[in-house]
Amino acid sequence: GEHPGSTSGPGAGGVDPAVRAQTGSRLTTAQGLRLYDTDHSLKAGERGPVLLQDHHLREKITHFDHERIPERVVHARGAAAHGVFRGYGTASKICKAAFLGKDVETPVFVRFSTVLGSRGSADTVRDTRGFATKFYTGQGTFDLVGNNIPVFFIQDAIKFPDVIHAGKPHPDREIPQAQSAHDTFWDFVSLHTEAAHHTIWNMSDRGIPRSFRMMEGFGVHTFRLVDEEGGTTLVKFHWKPKLGVHSMTWEEAQITNGVDPDFHRRDLADAIEAGAFPEWELGIQTFPDTPEQTFQGIDLLDPTKIVPEEWAPVQPIGLMTLTANPSNFFAETEQVAFHPGHLVPGIDITDDPLLAGRLFSYIDTQITRLGGPNFAQLPINRPHAPINDMTRDGMHQTAVHRGVAPYRPNSLDGGCPFLAGAGEGAYVEAPVTVPQSSKVRAAPASFSDHTSHPRRFYLSLSPVEREHVIAAYTFELSKCYEQSIKERQLRVLADIDPELCAGVAAGLGLPAPEPSGPLPEVEPSPALSQLGHTWPTD
Ligand code: HEM
Repeated sequence: GEHPGSTSGPGAGGVDPAVRAQTGSRLTTAQGLRLYDTDHSLKAGERGPVLLQDHHLREKITHFDHERIPERVVHARGAAAHGVFRGYGTASKICKAAFLGKDVETPVFVRFSTVLGSRGSADTVRDTRGFATKFYTGQGTFDLVGNNIPVFFIQDAIKFPDVIHAGKPHPDREIPQAQSAHDTFWDFVSLHTEAAHHTIWNMSDRGIPRSFRMMEGFGVHTFRLVDEEGGTTLVKFHWKPKLGVHSMTWEEAQITNGVDPDFHRRDLADAIEAGAFPEWELGIQTFPDTPEQTFQGIDLLDPTKIVPEEWAPVQPIGLMTLTANPSNFFAETEQVAFHPGHLVPGIDITDDPLLAGRLFSYIDTQITRLGGPNFAQLPINRPHAPINDMTRDGMHQTAVHRGVAPYRPNSLDGGCPFLAGAGEGAYVEAPVTVPQSSKVRAAPASFSDHTSHPRRFYLSLSPVEREHVIAAYTFELSKCYEQSIKERQLRVLADIDPELCAGVAAGLGLPAPEPSGPLPEVEPSPALSQLGHTWPTD
């Protein structure tokens, strides 16, 4: 029944823009005017000048001119998929979040990414990988915005612009990309030893996953779970791939980057299309929520530290299966907006100072990237819970709000929307005690150990994995122009492990420095080795 004269159809506000897009059977302008030709500009005679009055020409080209939006300031290159998360119910004793309940199924959208490369960069570079999951729960959206490396370069969000400026391409030549922005990257991490732990993970095989399907994911920060009675537990989130953890060798990655720079996104899309649905178990390490917020001497608020799995086993709490590819990359993969502050009742934050900065950075950057404050209305970002948020207007508003009283208290429009209590699913912050203290711009003493964790990581690796780490540092540092940066980084490595330092020094043709003091005593953690990796246990 489509007729150019028809004015029937859903009224204002009743049309889902996702459904409305491009459904007509005839080619039209954006205003619905039918076209008889879209291949020729309107001209004064076949060989004459093009006429300014050709609105179709101008509309078509103007829209095209504005097709691109800014890429993400970090994690610009990514690939995503839809799926489902099924709770095991095993977390329900310590977490009241409904989606973790036994056999509760929640739709998810997951975006994997590299961090430093631009949108068109190659997939199999040495870099951290983003692993961001949006759970569309009935209680609101929960985003677990993690990485495939369990620690971060910095302990305080105020340094995020610094670490990213050091890692992004050089400002003068715009080369190179990824971890290999050699002089600036190595300058920063050698001066800034809290980056040593994340860096050694990058230099290991973890820096070059074979497939997104074969990576672990980590929430990195410690989070706080809240049970029905208000009891709290500190946790770290882990995603464990059912296919195991696998990497490429450096040589394989180099060849792959040339032969198929889209290798990881192709691998993910092909696997899903073929019905080989990738799966991850979500697990948690749990720690008592003591006032110190430490576990066996490890400060749980320090995002450069991990707790070895042998000390606090990862307990499975649910299974995620990716079952469908996006149907439109732009609408879904590009426009999705994750935020670590998207929480649901039962999941709360901790005072990790890195997390604190993330809590405003994501929405702030998305206002620029997605053109105003209304990006939660984009189909991929819409919660699957009913919304009544009193926000109004703004750039790219697509809702047609009803009523006159978007404020409270009000006595119009039939009165205010109801407020919910905790028993009705309201988000109530855990009543955590805040230390009484003077204002201070400083890190706690418990953040000052920068060597024992990278040392444990290195000592936990198998011989072949250690060889790869030495080769990676050697290759990357060999690309530095500044000799002093290489020497400074060797001093950082000397404090991690003498064998590591000697191997890299030999590769660079430089003397191996002595450690600056006695090395910390650490036990290896077999779970850190990809070869020693025992998950899944079934
Ligand atoms: C984007 C993870 C630290 C700012 C992302 C993405 C991931 C991620 C996975 C990509 C999301 C997507 O696929 O759209 C992490 C992790 C961190 C961390 C695990 C540390 C534990 C930070 C910090 C800041 C920050 C400290 C700022 C203070 C951003 C920004 C984006 C981003 C601005 C782009 C978001 C967008 O344009 O939508 N991060 N990040 N991140 N991150 Fe982080």
